[in-house]
Amino acid sequence: MATQNGPGNCLILIFGASGDLTRRKLIPALYDLFVEGLLPGHFAVLGVSRSPLDDDAFRERLEPMARENAGQFDPGRWAEYCRHIHYHSADSTTLEHFDGLEQRMRELSETHGTGENVLFYLSLAPHLYDATINNIGAAGMVTEGKAWCSLNRETRPWQRIIVEKPFGHDAASAAHLNRVLGRVFEEESIYRIDHYLGKETVQNLLVFRFANAIFEPVWNRNYIDHVQVTASETVGVEGRGGYYDSPSGGAMRDMIQGHLLQLMGLVAMEPPVSMAADDIRQEKNKILTATRRPTVNEIPQIAVRGQYGPGQIGGKAVPAFREEEGVADDSQTETYAACQLYVDTWRWEGVPFCLRSGKAMARKTTEMVITFKRTPHCLFRDHIRNTAANKPNQIVINLQPNEGIRLRFEGKVPGAGMSIKSVVMDFDYEKQFGAEAREAYGTLLLDAMRGDQTLFKNREETESAWQIVQPILDYWQAYPAENFPNYAAGTWGPSEADILMARHGRHWHNP
Ligand code: BG6
Repeated sequence: MATQNGPGNCLILIFGASGDLTRRKLIPALYDLFVEGLLPGHFAVLGVSRSPLDDDAFRERLEPMARENAGQFDPGRWAEYCRHIHYHSADSTTLEHFDGLEQRMRELSETHGTGENVLFYLSLAPHLYDATINNIGAAGMVTEGKAWCSLNRETRPWQRIIVEKPFGHDAASAAHLNRVLGRVFEEESIYRIDHYLGKETVQNLLVFRFANAIFEPVWNRNYIDHVQVTASETVGVEGRGGYYDSPSGGAMRDMIQGHLLQLMGLVAMEPPVSMAADDIRQEKNKILTATRRPTVNEIPQIAVRGQYGPGQIGGKAVPAFREEEGVADDSQTETYAACQLYVDTWRWEGVPFCLRSGKAMARKTTEMVITFKRTPHCLFRDHIRNTAANKPNQIVINLQPNEGIRLRFEGKVPGAGMSIKSVVMDFDYEKQFGAEAREAYGTLLLDAMRGDQTLFKNREETESAWQIVQPILDYWQAYPAENFPNYAAGTWGPSEADILMARHGRHWHNP
């Protein structure tokens, strides 16, 4: 985002190519970029996994999902694009398989003219990461990076790696993965992906905050009462029960650690000194390091977990989480998590940041809500409709669906007399710009090809985020939930989460 360089010619090598992510997200996103003319002049995609397939069989497998998930599927353009898609069968955890792989990469680089630039994409089960990264290093595939010796930084070739989440399953394993990556790649070549950062409205948040003069003066503890970040999904675990009900799963790890802390960082960060990736990421990380680690005594007061039981979503009956395939009958995995955090800085002292995320909830929405303090004196107490007190102003930043920003304030109802009601000033992304926001993966893949790390997490951020949630995870493991399931599918989560807010006279913004 910060730099406007074009993407360099390159070979995109996807480890874990027979997996769902490649079919559902990566290949359609690259296809969209291809159709928009945004891919480099010379590129090739090489899918690698153990399944014995040839190029044609691989392309055939990819087509149905591309039809479904690409922006505008055109069979002619798809056929053109497919000429750049290849497949190589290999086990990335076996070093001997890298000889054949290297040979194939060399051939493709010659055929497609991609030169030495390689974008590795780790889309594997996390337990395969270590061996795969070590093998990339041992096979000598990273000629720039650790072994960098070129004198001309502008024209030197590059080898970069995109690492999918989950990035570790706790603070220690994330730190370990960072060390493994750091032994093979320079930090400037490591792209830790968080697809939420690729969402258009998230990027717009930086513009909203720092390209406008009117918000920044009130963006602090003097005017803001609290901040909410919600990511609610109506889907359950969608056949991923086995993964989700494992030591790497659960809403606290998957969503709060994985995505929402980043959103909190963007809302709370100080203005960076420039839009350079490092400057932005440093400011975000300062927020994560300043976030108070909860003590054992505080945890029951500031964190809530939930697991859905049977219910109804959109008129359809939904079974309980424990009835999903791959999930244990007595599973302790939380499908809902909420927590109230404090950022110990001059700007944010005493302002709660309330984060929550859940599966099988009433609505799919991702939003950030900034609630301001009430006016110091309520002049209009007798004129406010339907409520006893004046309502605080709110800025609602909608990430999905209906991307946009809404400002709620009080207005006079037309007519004789004085009657007051909440009204909304609405910026709708699609209506305003007449374009749908691009799929997050497209934005991020393009940024990685351009060498722009702004929307990727750096080493410190991943470790800081884990350190914030680790005490809660440890506590939950030590004290199993006795009341699971504690919310019905299709609702807004467990009542404990409402109590968490009500304790301080607040409530969740349920759209
Ligand atoms: C993923 C999580 O990172 O994000 C999933 O692992 C979750 O559990 C998904 O469903 C939600 O993404 P989005 O873009 O649909 O909000």
